[in-house]
Amino acid sequence: MSFVEFNNVTFGYKEDDYLLLEDLSFSAEKNDIITVIGASGCGKSTLFRLMTCLETEYKGSITINGKTPKEATGTAAFMPQKDLLMPWRNILKNVTLPLEALPMSKAERISQAKEAIEKVGLSGCENKRPSELSGGMRQRVSFARTLVQLWHGRELMLLDEPFSALDSLTRISMQDWLIGQVKGLDATVMMVTHDVEEAMLVGNKIFLLSGRPVKQIKVIDVSHITCREDLYTPSSVELKNELVRAFLTEKAERGDNI
Ligand SMILES: Nc1ncnc2c1ncn2[C@@H]1O[C@H](COP(=O)(O)OP(=O)(O)O)[C@@H](O)[C@H]1O
Ligand SMILES: [Mg+2]
Repeated sequence: MSFVEFNNVTFGYKEDDYLLLEDLSFSAEKNDIITVIGASGCGKSTLFRLMTCLETEYKGSITINGKTPKEATGTAAFMPQKDLLMPWRNILKNVTLPLEALPMSKAERISQAKEAIEKVGLSGCENKRPSELSGGMRQRVSFARTLVQLWHGRELMLLDEPFSALDSLTRISMQDWLIGQVKGLDATVMMVTHDVEEAMLVGNKIFLLSGRPVKQIKVIDVSHITCREDLYTPSSVELKNELVRAFLTEKAERGDNI
């Protein structure tokens, strides 16, 4: 059995009169690093909402480590697309938040949160409030909060466009940093991105979603792309162009002219 399994899943939001996913099946193995791409609005974030029990009215079966999403509560460290930092808590206290339910001393919580804050390059910002940080910095705090959860036995990391608000240089350094981080983790990682190069570099597999509803996911093996230089080989450039073309076709088919 695979670590994550979707079997014949059909889902649409009640408010909407169309299906987003229809009879969709896919799986992710333990230690897979999967990057998820697809046109805006196709249902990428919804996959994560289903896995984390934020949406429960689906048909078909979803299992995480053999359990239903409800039974598997606490398995995933989830970084949602919108950072859900608490405005009244400072950065340190936002990062310690997921540790508060765990049996550990306050000093240990603070020390782990500080370590995560350091890892995302925000040491010195511990006492600031989220409103005092840029969008990119808030994303990094949100990432640090996800990271501390992972240090406590979460086996699945779900990252929804974690670097979208970062400037390009910070983004590059965060991508390289993430690759180093996830390599040593005993976890399955799924990361949504709208950046094709990021998808090729960070993932060992790309999940390409298309169609409305999404009926199947195209899986592209990119495990041979392990460093930035690998993005510039002729076969990588060709793959990148292919993926960009797939995006543009999808956009045109949706009548999305933005
Ligand atoms: N909580 C929700 N309630 C109703 N409709 C939603 C909700 N979240 C997303 N949608 C709709 O479902 C579609 C897919 O959304 P989403 O999964 O967020 O797309 P993506 O992450 O691929 O951009 C969009 O048309 C969006 O408007
Ligand atoms: Mg989304």
